[in-house]
Amino acid sequence: MDSFATVAELRAQVRAWKREGLRVGFVPTMGNLHAGHYSLIQLAREHAERVVASVFVNPTQFGPNEDFARYPRTLDADATGLAEHGCDGLFAPSVPEMYPFGTGHEVRVRVPGITDVLDGAHRPGHFDGVATVVARLFNMVQPDVAVFGQKDYQQLRVIEYLVRDLAFPIAIIPAPIARAADGLALSSRNQYLSATQRAVAPRIHETLLAMRADVQAGRGLPDIESDASARLNAAGFAVDYAAIHRADLTRPDADERTGLIALIAARLGSTRLIDNLRLD
Ligand code: PAF
Repeated sequence: MDSFATVAELRAQVRAWKREGLRVGFVPTMGNLHAGHYSLIQLAREHAERVVASVFVNPTQFGPNEDFARYPRTLDADATGLAEHGCDGLFAPSVPEMYPFGTGHEVRVRVPGITDVLDGAHRPGHFDGVATVVARLFNMVQPDVAVFGQKDYQQLRVIEYLVRDLAFPIAIIPAPIARAADGLALSSRNQYLSATQRAVAPRIHETLLAMRADVQAGRGLPDIESDASARLNAAGFAVDYAAIHRADLTRPDADERTGLIALIAARLGSTRLIDNLRLD
């Protein structure tokens, strides 16, 4: 696997692959890679002959009181893992390479509407930072396909909107959520959890399953949402939201039953976990 720290080096390699007629798949990450990320590499490999992963902890998508400083940075282990999982190129730019004018002076990309709800409401500016860095990464890597995990469901929808609206010639491939045996969605943030918190964390997935059963049993959606929040709060979480939306993230009517998704964001101590489940 080749590693690139600059856009110029990366582009030279991607151009060479494309001259050979090879399709390029892309998996953007913030590093600290786990089995969930490696499943994205495998999926990218099914759609492209060459796969590039990026590792960049993007400062513009963290709020002032969030975990940017302590976000785990494990580039050497990530490079080894990527090579073992058949990745062809690792792009690990510095902050000045990504933001040549410095953060605070960067051109920003804002996706309207869909970013006002759920995580967008609880993490103001987060999706502006995500859209800004992903637009840059797409322009730097110039892939044919890019893979995004469905755990970050709202992020996936934001990226689909961005690609369509800015006419990036990139196919977006959604990847299924990778889970531990007890149902907890894999996340780099799981390692912040104490042993006690880790034992409680699968309640998020259990609650999503209960929400699905309640929807199928015909209960009203507002009651299901408030029961889910109460159940998680009682288990020791501080719930940001436990909500049922349409797949396009608009709000459904109380008796709607099809095309729905349940989404949860909840904190255990200072660790914020998110997860979701399609309800049909
Ligand atoms: O999902 C992530 O890891 C990040 O939000 C992404 C897409 C790599 C942008 O920084």
